[in-house]
Amino acid sequence: MFNALKNFFHIKIVMNLYSLRNYFSEEPGAVWLNLNSSDLENMVSKVVKHKGLDLDGKNILDLGCGTGTMLKYAVDNYNSNAYGVDLIRLNIRQAKKHVPSGNFYRGDIIDYLDKVDSKFDLVILYGVIGCFNLKQQKAIIEKILKYLNPGGMLWIGANLYNIFDYKFQTYPVPVDFYEDYKSRNSIVFDEVIEEELFGKHKYEPKQTSVMITYQP
Ligand SMILES: C[S@@+](CC[C@H](N)C(=O)[O-])C[C@H]1O[C@@H](n2cnc3c(N)ncnc32)[C@H](O)[C@@H]1O
Repeated sequence: MFNALKNFFHIKIVMNLYSLRNYFSEEPGAVWLNLNSSDLENMVSKVVKHKGLDLDGKNILDLGCGTGTMLKYAVDNYNSNAYGVDLIRLNIRQAKKHVPSGNFYRGDIIDYLDKVDSKFDLVILYGVIGCFNLKQQKAIIEKILKYLNPGGMLWIGANLYNIFDYKFQTYPVPVDFYEDYKSRNSIVFDEVIEEELFGKHKYEPKQTSVMITYQP
């Protein structure tokens, strides 16, 4: 009950306030607290290099895309086809401005994953997994895996395990959450400490990024 209220407060109130701030800001890149556009661009480029991804002309889906900063970077630098989903109307409005060629859906990630009819080479879930409870986290990952092209990758960013007491994450990921994925045949699993991959991190230094590649 407490978590449901906390989540409601984060998503319906705090995130809307940030979106409003960003709407009137000179630097409307990132949706959350201290992050800015160059932090998000740095993260995408480091992940692409780390995994040696070739995204030229490939489909990228950003779930919880905010104002579309990561998608814009991918379109501008890798000539990718952009798809974005976000709950907040103002975010989608700005994302459409940033990425005119993109395909955007204003609504819930789970609803989108129930009806999408494309396949993707990179799916980004950055700073979003903690908005969902454990059952939803698992369901979302399973649905995404079905929409990955062979060699396609799901990047789940800002994982915080339940040993951390982090006030901005409603539903931390349980410590053994990814064990099942590590042992699956068709999956290559990789996890990095974000501070090590991205350089100095602005938040919890033990945040990790998980990269799950579908390799049938
Ligand atoms: C912490 S922000 C991260 C935004 C972006 N990924 C970034 O890294 O800047 C979380 C984003 O997820 C969106 N979001 C949260 N729950 C969602 C849901 N159920 N469906 C769609 N979007 C959601 C919020 O509107 C917000 O833009």
